[in-house]
Amino acid sequence: MVNPSYISALQNPIFRTISKAASNLNLESYVIGGYVRDYILNRGEAKDIDIVAVGSGIELAQEVSRLLPGKPKVSVFKTYGTAMLKSGGIELEFVGARKESYSEESRNPAVENGSLADDQNRRDFTINALALSLNDENFGKLLDPFNGIADLENHIIRTPLDPDITYSDDPLRMLRAIRFATQLNFIIEKDSLAAIKRNAKRIKIISKERIVDELNKMLLADVPSKGFALLHKTGLLPYILPELVALQGIDEKEGQTHKDNFWHTLEVVDNISKATDDLWLRWAALLHDIGKAPTKRFDKKLGWTFHTHEFVGAKMVYKLFKRLKMPLNDKMKFVQKMVLMSSRPIALASDVTDSAVRRLIFDAGENVEDLMTLCEADITTKNPKKFKKYHANFQLVRDKIVEVEERDHVRNFQPPVSGEEIMKTFNLKPSREIGLIKDAIKEAILEGEIPNEYEAAKEFMLKKGAEIGLTIDD
Ligand code: CTP
Repeated sequence: MVNPSYISALQNPIFRTISKAASNLNLESYVIGGYVRDYILNRGEAKDIDIVAVGSGIELAQEVSRLLPGKPKVSVFKTYGTAMLKSGGIELEFVGARKESYSEESRNPAVENGSLADDQNRRDFTINALALSLNDENFGKLLDPFNGIADLENHIIRTPLDPDITYSDDPLRMLRAIRFATQLNFIIEKDSLAAIKRNAKRIKIISKERIVDELNKMLLADVPSKGFALLHKTGLLPYILPELVALQGIDEKEGQTHKDNFWHTLEVVDNISKATDDLWLRWAALLHDIGKAPTKRFDKKLGWTFHTHEFVGAKMVYKLFKRLKMPLNDKMKFVQKMVLMSSRPIALASDVTDSAVRRLIFDAGENVEDLMTLCEADITTKNPKKFKKYHANFQLVRDKIVEVEERDHVRNFQPPVSGEEIMKTFNLKPSREIGLIKDAIKEAILEGEIPNEYEAAKEFMLKKGAEIGLTIDD
């Protein structure tokens, strides 16, 4: 079959500029990789465009910049022989076509100049090796030596070379295969899958940052469980998230079993992904039960228990983020908080009192809706009656949150009477008594004894002060 022209993919005037720059330098240039793949898949205009030059990618980038209005700055990465420039909100990456061989110990390649075909050979997947010509004589022509188009149509992830070579050249590609399978809902071809299993332990040479990038992309897919199930199946998961592997399996003692918390977790992640695109809430879903493996006990009366798993899990979140070199900032704290509080609304659902709801809002603060979203996603029972009942209970909790919040404003709680006022009223220096009174006011508000208002709180303060023997200074 004659390759069709994809000139429609090259409407953006930048492509003609690149073409002109290449012909000024008397070299061939092509668009390759994600841009072509996503155009054919109709995934919307990409923000990153990869250009291959048969010759120097750096010189091509410099010539393109010269032709563009404003002559955008070219960033050169000499070690990799690549250059980058930004134009009209698009990032253009330039690279010279190369033949490569990777060393056993690192993913840094030894580079040699090559043809377009050499360059396509060393790419990760057939669907990422598609190239469109930017050369005058065949502008828009598709160059597809491995029939990547058929793989795109049939939803297949396949390596251009023997998968053992492609994966051991750059082990990150094992994760990329799983990530693309998850994002695009494609299937990894069976030899490729077997090669991932064989090469899994080489993932150890890949930097944590790159691994986390792939995990984040998996988590942001429509159905993230697909990726994590594949990580499990291929044996990659123990090198990346052993905490999840430890959740897998069902124990039985005296005829009593517990659910498989690994597969349950994956269901929770899929559930939450229908409700939110927030990466960190999805991370919280993925990690919400990790404390269950180290806390699992069998008790003759109670059966299987996971006592304090939320607390243990929250501590594990910190270690996991640290190990994976993830940010140890407010995002990590948010995930910890979600894990720590993940059972709170459940305990509440059977008996929705105002004071319990007030405490929940007080403790969860601005994250109370996220916490409810997590708890709803946590409902994975296959019993339709129970499913309905649990959801209805959580709806009651949600309604109550709105009602209590409107009335009592305990989210972002600020004590209605300040420490300063307490000191002034009772003529106190900074002391334990001030803390006692402040806490008592907070407790009285949360318990619903007094409204969250200044007058009521002041009156309560005077009463409390008198109780502990303080006198008013007037
Ligand atoms: N590539 C590769 N091996 C890698 C990384 C990238 O062969 N480990 C090649 C692929 O041809 C890929 C191109 O480099 O298409 C660009 O890589 P990148 O920008 O990381 O990925 P995209 O395919 O553009 O996809 P996405 O933006 O979704 O990551």
